[in-house]
Amino acid sequence: MLAGNGVFRLDGRVAIVTGGGRGLGEVFCRTFADAGAAVVVADVLLANAERVADSLVSGGARAVPVHLDVRSTASANAMVARTIAEFGQVDVLMNNAGIVINTPAEEMTDAQWEDVLAVDLTGVFKCCRAVAPHMIARKRGSIINIGSMSGVVSNHPQPQCSYNAAKAGVIMLSKSLAGEWAQYGIRVNTISPGYMETEMTLRGRQNPRENDVWIENTPMKRCGRPEELGPLALYLASDASSFMTGANILIDGGYTIW
Ligand SMILES: NC(=O)c1ccc[n+]([C@@H]2O[C@H](COP(=O)([O-])OP(=O)(O)OC[C@H]3O[C@@H](n4cnc5c(N)ncnc54)[C@H](O)[C@@H]3O)[C@@H](O)[C@H]2O)c1
Repeated sequence: MLAGNGVFRLDGRVAIVTGGGRGLGEVFCRTFADAGAAVVVADVLLANAERVADSLVSGGARAVPVHLDVRSTASANAMVARTIAEFGQVDVLMNNAGIVINTPAEEMTDAQWEDVLAVDLTGVFKCCRAVAPHMIARKRGSIINIGSMSGVVSNHPQPQCSYNAAKAGVIMLSKSLAGEWAQYGIRVNTISPGYMETEMTLRGRQNPRENDVWIENTPMKRCGRPEELGPLALYLASDASSFMTGANILIDGGYTIW
């Protein structure tokens, strides 16, 4: 099928974006809506999800905000149930919600470690598991998990061992689910971004001790703009990537080549 035949379109499809209330998640919501999908904007900060969903609806798209805490199985299951009640189906699940805690390993508390793993890794699993029975029954679905280049290299100078470990886990979780669910027509892929201009990296970008190292180690000599991830997300969400599953795609300005 050629790109000109609409293979990148999502008309009639329904997409969930976790952490959709700001940052990269907001861009993914807009990208999917622009391609014709109905979008569920799911976030622990409901007011942000409402702002994004309202703006999509104002632009003519179908969208609803949903409160979601990915740490909770009940919350993940309720998000999927609400999506099916609202739009009848789920075609795309984008697991984007994430947090980072920059603490030296020797000082990290159990709670800090567990928080990052609960959101960044276990939360991804809980949302995948929540949508699985529906996608298996329909024999179709595209799951996109947001990993990080931090799942492949250990970024520095900021300490973030729990984040790195969680993101490495996301990449392997995606491969594992891709293997289990290919038989059901469900594809599972990972996008692993480099440093992007969002709230998550604001503190580091404003701190020359960190920012200078980040830029020096990025061959393209800049951070990425959130909208630069949209086309890849659309590729993975749509039939354009119909033979791709279990892949981890780095989009990092070249950071990981050195
Ligand atoms: N910004 C970067 O440089 C970068 C690089 C690589 C990967 N990532 C990943 O991209 C994803 C998005 O990051 P971002 O930069 O947009 O960050 P962000 O902090 O701007 O946005 C994260 C979103 O996730 C939501 N969230 C946090 N905890 C949640 C929970 N328990 N349940 C539901 N939602 C929750 C937040 O409310 C927020 O809307 C994250 O998984 C992050 O690890 C970011």
